Amino acid sequence: MAASSLVSSRVSISLLLFVAISSAALLATASANFYKDFDVTWGDGRGKILEDGDLLTLSLDKASGSGFQSRNEYLFGKINMELKLVPGNSAGTVTAYYLSSNGSTWDEIDFEFLGNLSGDPYILHTNVFSQGKGNREQQFYLWFDPTADFHTYSILWNPQRIIFSVDGTPIREFENLEGRGVAFPKNQPMRIYSSLWNADDWATRGGRVKTDWSNAPFTASYRNFSADACVWSNGGSSCSSSNSTASPASWMSEALDATSQERLEWARKNYMIYDYCKDGKRFPLGFPAECNLG
Ligand SMILES: *[C@@H]1O[C@H](CO)[C@@H](O)[C@H](O)[C@H]1NC(C)=O
Ligand SMILES: *[C@@H]1O[C@H](CO)[C@@H](O)[C@H](O)[C@H]1NC(C)=O
Ligand SMILES: *[C@@H]1O[C@H](CO)[C@@H](O)[C@H](O)[C@H]1NC(C)=O
Ligand SMILES: *[C@@H]1O[C@H](CO)[C@@H](O)[C@H](O)[C@H]1NC(C)=O
Repeated sequence: MAASSLVSSRVSISLLLFVAISSAALLATASANFYKDFDVTWGDGRGKILEDGDLLTLSLDKASGSGFQSRNEYLFGKINMELKLVPGNSAGTVTAYYLSSNGSTWDEIDFEFLGNLSGDPYILHTNVFSQGKGNREQQFYLWFDPTADFHTYSILWNPQRIIFSVDGTPIREFENLEGRGVAFPKNQPMRIYSSLWNADDWATRGGRVKTDWSNAPFTASYRNFSADACVWSNGGSSCSSSNSTASPASWMSEALDATSQERLEWARKNYMIYDYCKDGKRFPLGFPAECNLG
């Protein structure tokens, strides 16, 4: 058994989170355990936790997909997961990995991976919902084959901004522009969810390429989850400011520095294939407010 899994099986995540407030470095070195942090919630055995909790796999066949969700709810955090997507002919399949709250005015932060024929590029689809309103899609190709190996997909969510990153390269920033009338997710705790399902009515080339069930089961894999995050339970946050002995974690005010800003521009310039803020046909009466402000 790996040293990191021994550590994580003995130390509860909430204890780690306490420590994380004063020493973010420690949490980053201890990876969590899927048995402890997640529940496979659907798919009748198609979702599996393996390797003593170090690996999770979801699969999809003609009868069903599968999914999991975090045990914890979080209100802000820096959350990393390594994913290896469905290899080969994955056309028609979608692997969604996202944070979401509940209810009709929910908040949501989405990564969705749209499969493709062998050798054709996956699309990484992103969206942000605040108080039930989404329609903020941005899509990217990736600069590597996301099915050949694990890559890290991260969400930084603090009160000022949401940053989506891939292997440490920021690809999207959604700023808190509440002062100018754009709702921002900051009051509703969210869980982490993931699912693998059939979406061949829209996913690949807009639905023109269908799932080839002779390739089933389709499998996506997850490892090395880490959450440097505020856990919400019983109406309170593990990062409550009433605890004056703890200093706030640095990710709580993290922003893009000049280098990260350059990386973001590089990703947008070379890999972005759709931006709602540039889709004039879709918004004939004018772009959403954040498009003109951000
Ligand atoms: C959503 O609702 C379920 C069931 O009512 C509850 O267990 C959960 O904590 C709620 N919040 C989130 C973020 O899922
Ligand atoms: C699949 O490949 C085609 C051809 O290269 C491309 O147009 C499309 O954007 C790719 N991705 C998806 C999810 O359709
Ligand atoms: C797990 O992720 C952390 C960053 O979150 C990274 O430093 C570490 O190298 C990863 N471990 C493995 C085994 O990939
Ligand atoms: C406050 O933080 C310190 C150090 O992180 C911890 O030892 C203590 O238990 C915390 N107290 C409360 C009430 O959360």
